[in-house]
Amino acid sequence: MAERQIISCRDSTDLSERAAEEFVRLARQAIQLAGRFTVALSGGSTPKALYTLLAAPGFAQRISWNRTHLFWGDERCVPPGDPASNYRLARESLLDHVPVPSANLHRIRGEDGPAAAAAAYERELRQAFATPDGLPRGAPGSRFDLVLLGMGDNGHTASLFPGMTAVHERGRWVVVQQVAAEPMWRVTLTPVVINTAGEVVFLVSGREKAATLGRVLDGPHQPDSLPAQVVAPRSGRLRWLVDAAAAADLRRR
Ligand code: 6PG
Repeated sequence: MAERQIISCRDSTDLSERAAEEFVRLARQAIQLAGRFTVALSGGSTPKALYTLLAAPGFAQRISWNRTHLFWGDERCVPPGDPASNYRLARESLLDHVPVPSANLHRIRGEDGPAAAAAAYERELRQAFATPDGLPRGAPGSRFDLVLLGMGDNGHTASLFPGMTAVHERGRWVVVQQVAAEPMWRVTLTPVVINTAGEVVFLVSGREKAATLGRVLDGPHQPDSLPAQVVAPRSGRLRWLVDAAAAADLRRR
């Protein structure tokens, strides 16, 4: 795996600002190199502040939205207007406020049902990365420039949950998962795609994440229990943006 960097942020505001600067930097770099910026957005509540910041004048004007392609790391199998929809989270905090062309929005169509949504999304990814079959090639232009991820307090990331087979998927780019504690199915990127990204950035905030973050970053490798540990970009860079509250149990570095 390429380098792993842990960036300690003062608080959630500082974390979102640093994530926004990283987003701008990677967008400029990708567009300069390949003419477009491909990013997989995370769901959950942590990134909402980042998306709101990216939509604000201080950042929105620094991003070429017409060359930015937005995907999702995972989605719940609900309609796009459902309160549980990751697409709705991004639409309300970001997409409704920036001029990203609709053709550049590659949402997971959770309303079509898990199998159909996963198959359609994998087709869309393969077309976007010009890789009709086999594994992602992992070269600029045929991989995500950036994958944004969160981490649950049980160590899940995207919709890769403890004990799920998707954590060990070696061929498919997108799979469906049914999470025991929830009534809904989910569609998720697998490590096959995530680990070919140019850069993966975790956003972890809050004291309730501290114990799990300590196990994920300082404990033994056990991805079945801590799926976030399966994220190890083959040649890309892995960055953990963590605020002081979430970093409370990390060993001193
Ligand atoms: C989702 C996300 C999920 C999220 C974590 C952390 O669809 O819920 O993909 O992996 O990133 O659960 O969520 P919070 O940011 O709300 O703590």
